[in-house]
Amino acid sequence: MSEKFTTIAASGMDTATAYRLLCGIVTPRPIAWITSISEAGVVNAAPFSSYNYVAHSPPMLAINIGSRSGGLKDTARNIQSVKEFVVNVATVDNMETMHRTSAEFGPDASETEALGIELLPSDLVRPPRIAMSPVQMECRLSQVVTLGRLNTLYIGEVVAFHLSNDVYDGRHVDSVKMQPVARLGGPFYASLGEIFERPILQTPPVGNKA
Ligand SMILES: Cc1cc2nc3c(=O)[nH]c(=O)nc-3n(C[C@H](O)[C@H](O)[C@H](O)COP(=O)(O)O)c2cc1C
Repeated sequence: MSEKFTTIAASGMDTATAYRLLCGIVTPRPIAWITSISEAGVVNAAPFSSYNYVAHSPPMLAINIGSRSGGLKDTARNIQSVKEFVVNVATVDNMETMHRTSAEFGPDASETEALGIELLPSDLVRPPRIAMSPVQMECRLSQVVTLGRLNTLYIGEVVAFHLSNDVYDGRHVDSVKMQPVARLGGPFYASLGEIFERPILQTPPVGNKA
Protein backbone atom coordinates (compact mmCIF):
# COMPACT_ATOMS: atom_id res chain seq x y z
CA MET A 1 0.00 0.00 0.00
CA SER A 2 1.39 3.38 -0.90
CA GLU A 3 -1.01 5.24 1.44
CA LYS A 4 0.59 8.28 3.02
CA PHE A 5 -0.40 10.24 6.08
CA THR A 6 1.05 13.32 7.73
CA THR A 7 0.97 12.72 11.47
CA ILE A 8 1.05 15.73 13.76
CA ALA A 9 1.13 15.47 17.54
CA ALA A 10 -1.55 17.75 18.96
CA SER A 11 0.14 18.32 22.29
CA GLY A 12 1.76 21.75 22.29
CA MET A 13 0.29 22.59 18.86
CA ASP A 14 -0.17 26.32 18.32
CA THR A 15 -3.79 27.47 18.41
CA ALA A 16 -3.86 28.75 14.82
CA THR A 17 -2.78 25.35 13.47
CA ALA A 18 -5.28 23.47 15.63
CA TYR A 19 -8.06 25.84 14.54
CA ARG A 20 -7.14 25.48 10.86
CA LEU A 21 -7.07 21.69 11.06
CA LEU A 22 -10.35 21.37 12.96
CA CYS A 23 -12.19 23.80 10.68
CA GLY A 24 -11.06 21.83 7.63
CA ILE A 25 -11.79 18.42 9.14
CA VAL A 26 -15.09 18.94 10.97
CA THR A 27 -17.16 19.74 7.90
CA PRO A 28 -19.78 20.54 6.83
CA ARG A 29 -20.81 22.46 9.96
CA PRO A 30 -24.35 23.78 10.39
CA ILE A 31 -24.56 27.45 11.23
CA ALA A 32 -26.42 28.94 14.19
CA TRP A 33 -27.21 32.53 13.28
CA ILE A 34 -27.68 33.76 16.83
CA THR A 35 -29.71 36.73 17.92
CA SER A 36 -29.07 37.98 21.43
CA ILE A 37 -29.79 41.18 23.32
CA SER A 38 -27.74 43.26 25.73
CA GLU A 39 -29.01 44.43 29.14
CA ALA A 40 -29.43 47.84 27.49
CA GLY A 41 -31.59 46.36 24.73
CA VAL A 42 -29.12 46.37 21.80
CA VAL A 43 -29.97 43.47 19.45
CA ASN A 44 -26.96 41.51 18.24
CA ALA A 45 -26.70 38.95 15.41
CA ALA A 46 -23.71 36.76 14.58
CA PRO A 47 -23.05 33.33 13.02
CA PHE A 48 -21.52 30.36 14.86
CA SER A 49 -20.67 27.04 13.21
CA SER A 50 -19.14 25.25 16.18
CA TYR A 51 -22.71 24.20 16.85
CA ASN A 52 -25.01 21.23 17.05
CA TYR A 53 -28.00 19.77 18.83
CA VAL A 54 -26.92 17.82 21.90
CA ALA A 55 -30.11 16.56 23.57
CA HIS A 56 -33.75 15.98 22.68
CA SER A 57 -35.49 15.53 26.05
CA PRO A 58 -35.66 18.43 26.56
CA PRO A 59 -34.30 19.69 23.24
CA MET A 60 -30.91 21.34 23.69
CA LEU A 61 -28.41 23.05 21.43
CA ALA A 62 -24.74 23.78 22.11
CA ILE A 63 -22.61 26.56 20.66
CA ASN A 64 -18.92 27.09 21.24
CA ILE A 65 -17.88 30.73 21.33
CA GLY A 66 -14.19 31.58 21.26
CA SER A 67 -12.72 34.55 23.07
CA ARG A 68 -11.76 37.72 21.19
CA SER A 69 -8.53 39.43 22.25
CA GLY A 70 -8.92 37.78 25.63
CA GLY A 71 -12.46 39.18 26.09
CA LEU A 72 -15.98 38.04 25.37
CA LYS A 73 -17.67 38.35 21.99
CA ASP A 74 -20.92 40.34 22.16
CA THR A 75 -23.03 37.19 21.75
CA ALA A 76 -21.26 35.49 24.67
CA ARG A 77 -21.60 38.56 26.90
CA ASN A 78 -25.30 38.88 26.07
CA ILE A 79 -26.01 35.20 26.67
CA GLN A 80 -24.18 35.29 29.99
CA SER A 81 -26.10 38.32 31.22
CA VAL A 82 -29.59 37.85 29.73
CA LYS A 83 -29.45 33.99 29.70
CA GLU A 84 -31.55 33.80 26.54
CA PHE A 85 -30.84 33.66 22.81
CA VAL A 86 -32.41 32.64 19.52
CA VAL A 87 -30.84 30.27 16.99
CA ASN A 88 -31.95 31.18 13.47
CA VAL A 89 -31.10 28.69 10.72
CA ALA A 90 -28.65 30.00 8.12
CA THR A 91 -29.71 29.20 4.57
CA VAL A 92 -28.57 29.74 1.00
CA ASP A 93 -31.07 32.62 0.77
CA ASN A 94 -29.88 34.47 3.88
CA MET A 95 -26.16 33.60 3.58
CA GLU A 96 -24.96 37.00 2.34
CA THR A 97 -26.65 38.87 5.17
CA MET A 98 -25.66 36.23 7.73
CA HIS A 99 -22.03 36.45 6.61
CA ARG A 100 -22.02 40.24 6.96
CA THR A 101 -23.10 39.93 10.60
CA SER A 102 -19.79 38.19 11.37
CA ALA A 103 -17.97 41.54 11.04
CA GLU A 104 -16.85 43.09 14.30
CA PHE A 105 -19.52 45.61 15.21
CA GLY A 106 -18.97 47.27 18.61
CA PRO A 107 -21.05 46.14 21.62
CA ASP A 108 -23.25 49.23 21.31
CA ALA A 109 -23.86 48.76 17.58
CA SER A 110 -26.69 46.52 16.42
CA GLU A 111 -25.91 44.36 13.36
CA THR A 112 -29.62 43.94 12.72
CA GLU A 113 -30.18 47.71 12.71
CA ALA A 114 -27.06 48.50 10.66
CA LEU A 115 -27.92 45.89 8.02
CA GLY A 116 -31.70 46.44 8.06
CA ILE A 117 -32.45 42.85 9.10
CA GLU A 118 -36.19 42.38 9.72
CA LEU A 119 -36.94 41.00 13.18
CA LEU A 120 -39.94 39.24 14.69
CA PRO A 121 -40.73 39.23 18.40
CA SER A 122 -40.07 36.00 20.28
CA ASP A 123 -42.77 34.41 22.43
CA LEU A 124 -40.81 33.35 25.51
CA VAL A 125 -37.42 35.09 25.38
CA ARG A 126 -36.27 38.69 25.00
CA PRO A 127 -34.01 38.36 21.92
CA PRO A 128 -36.03 38.66 18.69
CA ARG A 129 -36.07 36.24 15.75
CA ILE A 130 -34.73 36.88 12.25
CA ALA A 131 -37.67 36.99 9.81
CA MET A 132 -35.68 35.83 6.76
CA SER A 133 -34.70 32.58 8.48
CA PRO A 134 -37.23 29.75 7.86
CA VAL A 135 -36.63 28.19 11.30
CA GLN A 136 -35.96 29.99 14.56
CA MET A 137 -35.45 28.37 17.97
CA GLU A 138 -35.95 30.32 21.17
CA CYS A 139 -33.44 29.17 23.79
CA ARG A 140 -32.85 29.59 27.52
CA LEU A 141 -29.31 29.17 28.78
CA SER A 142 -28.93 25.85 30.58
CA GLN A 143 -25.20 25.36 31.14
CA VAL A 144 -21.93 27.16 30.50
CA VAL A 145 -18.87 24.93 30.15
CA THR A 146 -15.38 26.40 29.96
CA LEU A 147 -13.28 24.44 27.47
CA GLY A 148 -9.51 24.80 27.68
CA ARG A 149 -7.99 28.26 27.40
CA LEU A 150 -10.02 29.95 24.68
CA ASN A 151 -13.46 28.45 24.32
CA THR A 152 -16.76 28.35 26.16
CA LEU A 153 -19.65 26.05 25.35
CA TYR A 154 -23.11 27.55 25.80
CA ILE A 155 -25.83 24.93 26.12
CA GLY A 156 -29.34 26.23 25.62
CA GLU A 157 -32.70 24.55 26.06
CA VAL A 158 -35.05 25.17 23.16
CA VAL A 159 -38.27 26.58 24.61
CA ALA A 160 -40.01 27.31 21.31
CA PHE A 161 -39.58 26.24 17.68
CA HIS A 162 -40.83 28.54 14.93
CA LEU A 163 -41.11 26.68 11.61
CA SER A 164 -42.08 28.24 8.31
CA ASN A 165 -44.85 26.34 6.58
CA ASP A 166 -42.61 26.41 3.49
CA VAL A 167 -40.34 23.83 5.14
CA TYR A 168 -42.56 22.13 7.75
CA ASP A 169 -45.52 19.86 6.95
CA GLY A 170 -46.70 19.43 10.55
CA ARG A 171 -44.42 16.42 11.19
CA HIS A 172 -41.11 16.73 9.34
CA VAL A 173 -38.81 19.56 8.44
CA ASP A 174 -37.90 19.22 4.77
CA SER A 175 -34.16 19.89 4.86
CA VAL A 176 -33.98 20.13 1.08
CA LYS A 177 -36.60 22.89 1.04
CA MET A 178 -34.94 24.60 4.02
CA GLN A 179 -31.68 24.87 2.04
CA PRO A 180 -29.32 25.06 5.04
CA VAL A 181 -25.91 26.54 4.35
CA ALA A 182 -22.88 24.92 5.97
CA ARG A 183 -19.43 26.18 6.86
CA LEU A 184 -16.30 24.53 5.52
CA GLY A 185 -12.69 25.42 6.34
CA GLY A 186 -11.32 28.83 5.31
CA PRO A 187 -13.74 31.24 3.61
CA PHE A 188 -15.93 28.50 2.15
CA TYR A 189 -19.61 27.66 2.50
CA ALA A 190 -21.55 24.75 1.03
CA SER A 191 -25.14 23.88 0.28
CA LEU A 192 -26.65 20.39 0.44
CA GLY A 193 -25.18 18.07 -2.16
CA GLU A 194 -26.51 14.70 -3.23
CA ILE A 195 -29.14 13.20 -0.89
CA PHE A 196 -28.86 9.48 -0.05
CA GLU A 197 -31.78 7.46 1.35
CA ARG A 198 -31.38 4.29 3.42
CA PRO A 199 -33.88 2.48 5.69
CA ILE A 200 -33.55 3.40 9.37
CA LEU A 201 -31.99 0.38 11.12
CA GLN A 202 -32.14 1.43 14.76
CA THR A 203 -35.14 1.94 17.02
CA PRO A 204 -36.28 5.56 16.78
CA PRO A 205 -36.41 7.58 20.04
CA VAL A 206 -39.54 6.78 22.05
CA GLY A 207 -42.31 9.34 21.85
CA ASN A 208 -43.16 9.64 25.54
CA LYS A 209 -43.65 13.05 27.10
CA ALA A 210 -40.72 14.81 28.72
C1 LIG B 1 -19.97 31.12 9.15
C2 LIG B 1 -19.26 31.59 10.40
C3 LIG B 1 -19.18 30.75 11.49
C4 LIG B 1 -18.57 31.19 12.68
N1 LIG B 1 -18.50 30.33 13.74
C5 LIG B 1 -17.98 30.74 14.90
C6 LIG B 1 -17.96 29.89 16.05
O1 LIG B 1 -18.44 28.75 16.01
N2 LIG B 1 -17.44 30.36 17.21
C7 LIG B 1 -16.94 31.62 17.30
O2 LIG B 1 -16.49 32.03 18.38
N3 LIG B 1 -16.94 32.46 16.23
C8 LIG B 1 -17.45 32.06 15.05
N4 LIG B 1 -17.48 32.90 13.97
C9 LIG B 1 -17.00 34.28 14.14
C10 LIG B 1 -18.08 35.20 14.76
O3 LIG B 1 -19.23 35.23 13.95
C11 LIG B 1 -17.48 36.62 14.87
O4 LIG B 1 -16.44 36.59 15.83
C12 LIG B 1 -18.50 37.69 15.22
O5 LIG B 1 -17.88 38.97 15.06
C13 LIG B 1 -19.01 37.59 16.63
O6 LIG B 1 -19.93 38.62 16.78
P1 LIG B 1 -20.40 39.23 18.17
O7 LIG B 1 -19.21 39.92 18.83
O8 LIG B 1 -21.47 40.18 17.76
O9 LIG B 1 -20.91 38.10 19.00
C14 LIG B 1 -18.02 32.49 12.75
C15 LIG B 1 -18.07 33.32 11.63
C16 LIG B 1 -18.68 32.87 10.46
C17 LIG B 1 -18.73 33.78 9.27
